[in-house]
Amino acid sequence: MSLMTSAVRKPLIAGNWKMHLGLAQSVDLAKAVRDGTTGSPAEVAVCVPFTALSVVAEVLKGSHVRLGGQDLYWEAQGAFTGEVSAGQLCDAGATHVIIGHSERRRLFGDTDEAANKKLKAALAAKLIPIVCVGETLDERQSNQTFRVLETQLAGALKGFAPADLPPVVVAYEPVWAIGTGVTATPAQAQEAHLFLRKQAAKLYGEGFAAGLRILYGGSVTAENVDNLMAQPDLDGALVGGASLKAPSFSRIANFQVTAKA
Ligand code: 13P
Repeated sequence: MSLMTSAVRKPLIAGNWKMHLGLAQSVDLAKAVRDGTTGSPAEVAVCVPFTALSVVAEVLKGSHVRLGGQDLYWEAQGAFTGEVSAGQLCDAGATHVIIGHSERRRLFGDTDEAANKKLKAALAAKLIPIVCVGETLDERQSNQTFRVLETQLAGALKGFAPADLPPVVVAYEPVWAIGTGVTATPAQAQEAHLFLRKQAAKLYGEGFAAGLRILYGGSVTAENVDNLMAQPDLDGALVGGASLKAPSFSRIANFQVTAKA
């Protein structure tokens, strides 16, 4: 059973294009996503490379599809070569931003402390942050999953006023499921999501936890999305590979769930 009803939580289906696509391809994909997801029951977003933000913003202007960045730096401006601020993301048309993705953690040294600072900057700029957490295969196999999720969530959410937090979205992305074709089973995902929701309640109360959208990410496809979304604590998906093709991403965004399990 869910901690609390999901009726208050509008699902979010977000594509993470990662470091893929040139400008012309980005425009084509954004147009196809815009036109293919008008009937989606979810909020739909695409998180694109920095270089494509403005052109994709132009395509999505006035539409139901939101635009996100894949990372940000917490300072407003200054001598930070290669970094992009929250204000710059907003200026380019973004409304959402991914924070603490496992690829940032594993390949670029992002820490929980960095995720916390990025979250503060994102919220201050009124961006909707998608904070990623998730265990590696080793951690799962050595029964560390809950400890890792607890640490990453508490680290990212540390030190906020509860009133600031409602826009926050969490994405549970088990590292072993990202780009591997090995999706978490609906039961594995539900178990982790319920755990995260309970941790959120411990940190900031049941009201916050009940409204917190928790997305699943890791080899989500057009074929498995319906079963995942039928789980009571799954409030959407963060989609990598399958977001790069309009038919699969549109089918994911147009997921079909008759009733939550
Ligand atoms: P895949 O959907 O390719 O497994 O990637 C998931 C992901 O990392 C989304 O942020």
